[in-house]
Amino acid sequence: MSGPLFQTQQLFVAFGGLSALTGLDLEIEQGRIIGLIGPNGAGKTTAFNAITGIVKPSAGRVIFRGEDITGFRAPVIARKGIARTFQNIRLYGDLTVVENVMVAGHSSVTYSIFEAVLGVGRFGADERRIRKKAEHLLSLIGLMEVAGERASALPYGSQRKLEVARALALDPILLLLDEPVAGMNPSETIEFRELLLRLHSDLKLTIGLIEHDMGFVMSICHKIKVIDHGIPIAWGTPHEIRHNEKVIAAYLGQGD
Ligand SMILES: Nc1ncnc2c1ncn2[C@@H]1O[C@H](COP(=O)(O)OP(=O)(O)OP(=O)(O)O)[C@@H](O)[C@H]1O
Ligand SMILES: [Mg+2]
Repeated sequence: MSGPLFQTQQLFVAFGGLSALTGLDLEIEQGRIIGLIGPNGAGKTTAFNAITGIVKPSAGRVIFRGEDITGFRAPVIARKGIARTFQNIRLYGDLTVVENVMVAGHSSVTYSIFEAVLGVGRFGADERRIRKKAEHLLSLIGLMEVAGERASALPYGSQRKLEVARALALDPILLLLDEPVAGMNPSETIEFRELLLRLHSDLKLTIGLIEHDMGFVMSICHKIKVIDHGIPIAWGTPHEIRHNEKVIAAYLGQGD
């Protein structure tokens, strides 16, 4: 494989008459932590949705490990090695913490595995293997103590971490996080930053993240892409982005 691990080329997404994303070129080299930032409604989540097969790009290409994966379905993209979390937490609130990771652990989440998790029990060895892996991930992420609790009973910060454990169950090469520290208090954010850096080095992950917490983004990302109203306006190191006039203007104009 030559070139970057991941790339979008002139990616466009339109919803009816609305251009939500206009010509996004984004490169992520292996092992990097990349930020995608911009004011509310800028098209950040839309970019992740187009990359991971949740919405269909209207033009452009998504290239992963040299392969054109544009328009592939979400489960196929996940199996190729791109996992993500969602801005609005998507957990099975009535399942336990470990069961949530187990459901994700079967990369094509089928109804039958769901049944197995619920205790139908036809899947003996497979289920044990998946449970063991889920428990390992929960230990990594620091949630093993609450493995048997209902996901909905966890505090918000822990639910966000559980989402990351679920994504890791897919054995991703590239992990995409949509506002991972939103709603966390400052100490939870600091703790999450440490966790993410540990996962990044231990699991050799490449990471793309959307986040409004500028302190977090600036302290963890190697490079940052800024979009505003769907349009890419800047790309650079945290230092360059912090001093970029277009970026400053876009954020000052927020709330128009
Ligand atoms: N499924 C959809 N159908 C129609 N319009 C959509 C859809 N998803 C997003 N949009 C619109 O596309 C634009 C970009 O939305 P998006 O959610 O990508 O922004 P964002 O940068 O993630 O914002 P935030 O920081 O608030 O999460 C917005 O105008 C939004 O209303
Ligand atoms: Mg968003």
